[in-house]
Amino acid sequence: MKIYKAKDYNDMSRKAANIVSAQIIMKPNCVLGLATGSSPIGTYEQLVQWYEKGDLDFSEVTSVNLDEYKGLTEENDQSYRYFMEKYLFSKVNINKDQTFLPNGMAEDEQKECEKYDALIHSLGGIDLQLLGIGHNGHIGFNEPDQAFEKQTHCVALQESTIQANKRFFSSIDEVPKYAYTMGIKTIMQSKKILVIVSGEEKAEIVKKAFFGPVTPSVPASILQMHNDVILVGDEAALSKIDI
Ligand code: F6R
Repeated sequence: MKIYKAKDYNDMSRKAANIVSAQIIMKPNCVLGLATGSSPIGTYEQLVQWYEKGDLDFSEVTSVNLDEYKGLTEENDQSYRYFMEKYLFSKVNINKDQTFLPNGMAEDEQKECEKYDALIHSLGGIDLQLLGIGHNGHIGFNEPDQAFEKQTHCVALQESTIQANKRFFSSIDEVPKYAYTMGIKTIMQSKKILVIVSGEEKAEIVKKAFFGPVTPSVPASILQMHNDVILVGDEAALSKIDI
């Protein structure tokens, strides 16, 4: 694993955007695995700036997102599709037909999961997967559990995740209780994984995930078994590890 220490959130975002942009330049028709949440916003903003300067071309890129809330339409401003449109898709020349997220409104949960896995498979897998980490060690919405869930599945979100997400909703009752997420196997099959972490409140989980035992009770710990992981964290998030 390579670890890059950034000064702060902006520096982390620039470093992460450099890695994503290198991927796009090296392989213009790459498959990017994308994430939502606070961690990647700065990275997307930086990528948009470089696109606007004419330094980046998304026209051949395909994207697959990690997850989507169940029960929210694409137009709902809390859906992950909406987030991606807002921060990235509407601002760069990516082909909208080549941007994929699980369909939160799918009628048949099981079929939707199988469809998403088949899609990723048909694309030849993910070249670069961008990941944030939840306070409880979740990646995507793979929550702490007794075993690693392999494939795309629908999960009941843990109370701590619902609490962490409530800042985006007007009341806790509106926070969806279920979400679709790529499974651990799909994430681990990505050729390269870029993890971004910022803030002191992530310091403990960074230590556990990357230097503690590999266990499904800390889903991100499985990343220790991947042979091409880059961790970009700011000083606060990396403050509990020796590097
Ligand atoms: C988002 C996702 C989540 C977040 C994680 C960290 O698509 O899959 O696993 O990456 O909850 O969220 P932030 O970045 O808001 O701290």
